Amino acid sequence: MNLFNVYPLYDVTPQRAQDVYVYDENEVKYLDLYGGHAVISIGHSHPHFVKKIREQLERIAFYSNAIQNPLQNKLAASIAEQSCLHNYELFLCSTGAEAIENALKLSSFHTGRKKVIAFHGAFHGRTSAAVSVTDNAAINAPLNLQHQVTFLPFNDIEALEKELATESYCSVIFETIQGVGGLDQPSEEFVIAMESLCKKYGSCLIADEVQSGFGRTGTFFAYQNHPITPHIITMAKGMGNGFPIGGILIHPDIKAKYGMLGTTFGGNHLACSASLAVLDVLKKDRLQEKTKTLERYFRDQAAEIPEVKKVKGSGLMLGLEFDFEIGSLRKSLIYDHHIFTGGSSNKKLIRILPPLTIEEKHFYHFFSALKIALKNI
Ligand SMILES: Cc1ncc(COP(=O)(O)O)c(C=O)c1O
Repeated sequence: MNLFNVYPLYDVTPQRAQDVYVYDENEVKYLDLYGGHAVISIGHSHPHFVKKIREQLERIAFYSNAIQNPLQNKLAASIAEQSCLHNYELFLCSTGAEAIENALKLSSFHTGRKKVIAFHGAFHGRTSAAVSVTDNAAINAPLNLQHQVTFLPFNDIEALEKELATESYCSVIFETIQGVGGLDQPSEEFVIAMESLCKKYGSCLIADEVQSGFGRTGTFFAYQNHPITPHIITMAKGMGNGFPIGGILIHPDIKAKYGMLGTTFGGNHLACSASLAVLDVLKKDRLQEKTKTLERYFRDQAAEIPEVKKVKGSGLMLGLEFDFEIGSLRKSLIYDHHIFTGGSSNKKLIRILPPLTIEEKHFYHFFSALKIALKNI
């Protein structure tokens, strides 16, 4: 049986991975500056992560959400402690897109409305409502177009107010730092306006932290750089360090009702153990705090490369923008220098989303390789 051919693949076959390195079948070592789309947070196969999952697997891996599962309460307490969002409630699912579906659906239940505002360049996933709020016509099927979505540019407060004043929107969904879109950010003034206009006109504000959350940008969630209180926060990716888990944090203004949301796999024992292990390591190794120092080092190194026109992003969610398309540069980095990097819908931007355990010496190695690759492409 063939695989359904939807992914253009690099010719690399990882067989094992350790911390910031991935090894192929010939034991060739690749430096992972992409973390498999920002998923690897505490490093590949972290010993504590492996131990916790193994121990859980030997006890009980799964039971449905029809029984008591104290690991879910433990996970909620740990997220509350590290995010300082003590009064929010937690609903668990398994992927980022599922977190977005649940956030949008909840905002619609809460407000009784159907329309959503999203932003140019947004990426929120591939499932029904999630892909409809994603600004990419090519990945929306006719079925997805039944959702009523208005796309606006960041920072146009007037346009936002004009739409919200119709009082027909259940939510405004945004990424504090756009991931797939290429690391653009709304201004602080706009973020504050989004919050106050949502309150004024009765819409929910959804912060999509699927990529930027769990300590990647120096605060637990990237939106926490701004003085706002979203109604719903979505998370996934780094939450499980490769184990599929997602979730939403829900403001106490939104009340739960039996049957409102549900899932078979969400919050299972193994997934909770994986995420608890991630949170243990984040805290013990102070990884969130370290992202800022590493960002400074990265920016200093990038400043020495004239071809780099702009450094975008925050913490360890970074981008290098050039004035040419970077497809062949990324190919040279992976095949000639054995370094994984990421692309985005901005074809001139390399995305850097390493495990949060990365060190300056790894960035030094990357920039040395980048200088050589730039000469040779
Ligand atoms: C900001 C953001 N939201 C949602 C998603 C969807 O997550 P998943 O691929 O786990 O469904 C992604 C994935 O890249 C993302 O970057």
